[in-house]
Amino acid sequence: MLKVMVFNYSPAIEINNARVNHNIGSENSVEAAETVINTNYYGTKKMIKAAIPLIRPYAQGARIVTVSSRLGRLNGKQNRISDDGLRQRLEDIGNLSEELIDVTMTKFLEQVKDGTWTSGGWPQTKTDYSLSKLAVNAFTRVMANQLSSRPESEKIYINCYCPGMVKTATTGWAGQVTPEEGVDIAIWMSLLPDQAISGKFFAERREIHF
Ligand SMILES: NC(=O)c1ccc[n+]([C@@H]2O[C@H](COP(=O)([O-])OP(=O)(O)OC[C@H]3O[C@@H](n4cnc5c(N)ncnc54)[C@H](OP(=O)(O)O)[C@@H]3O)[C@@H](O)[C@H]2O)c1
Repeated sequence: MLKVMVFNYSPAIEINNARVNHNIGSENSVEAAETVINTNYYGTKKMIKAAIPLIRPYAQGARIVTVSSRLGRLNGKQNRISDDGLRQRLEDIGNLSEELIDVTMTKFLEQVKDGTWTSGGWPQTKTDYSLSKLAVNAFTRVMANQLSSRPESEKIYINCYCPGMVKTATTGWAGQVTPEEGVDIAIWMSLLPDQAISGKFFAERREIHF
């Protein structure tokens, strides 16, 4: 779809798209888990933090949009973290913090290293990729909270979305969504007329649950 990050000519829109996923189809190897978490979560986080001071104040409110995935949903019927307590803490927007997200990623990566991750209660499908997207979603909410205190003239709205199953090289060109359709929602979210929308997760131009 899109390449890494796009600043439009008045840099008031940032779109984070980069990802890696080393599992094709039903594979679930965590051999590349560190790369996956580092690229998809920590890479996205660094880009967002680096971009914020560069984003130009913009009358309509500047926008940050991150491409995520439903695989990272906290409370999806399938593929969720089995620890109810951890899920609740990751969902509790009042107390959700960057530290909690980082500690969760560190715990998973430690379990990958010591070989205990299969009993860790992590998502069952594409575990490392799903967790990286769960972290991106949670970080979107943390940042939306932080950015909400900015003065009106410096507003930045941050949201994320799932494009659906897109026909790209990494899906083996499987899926129902063309790359153009997958990008459509990023453009729509970048230009959302309702400026107050921030810290939300979208799919098919509708808000969905994290
Ligand atoms: N395709 C789907 O069905 C689907 C479903 C749900 C969500 N998504 C999300 O949609 C977004 C795009 O997916 P896609 O299918 O278009 O993926 P893709 O074809 O694998 O493209 C990913 C892009 O990320 C770049 N990238 C990877 N690692 C990078 C790094 N360390 N630094 C900079 N760029 C890096 C790649 O660049 P190079 O080509 O140079 O390696 C590539 O251009 C991702 O965030 C993905 O999680 C996709």
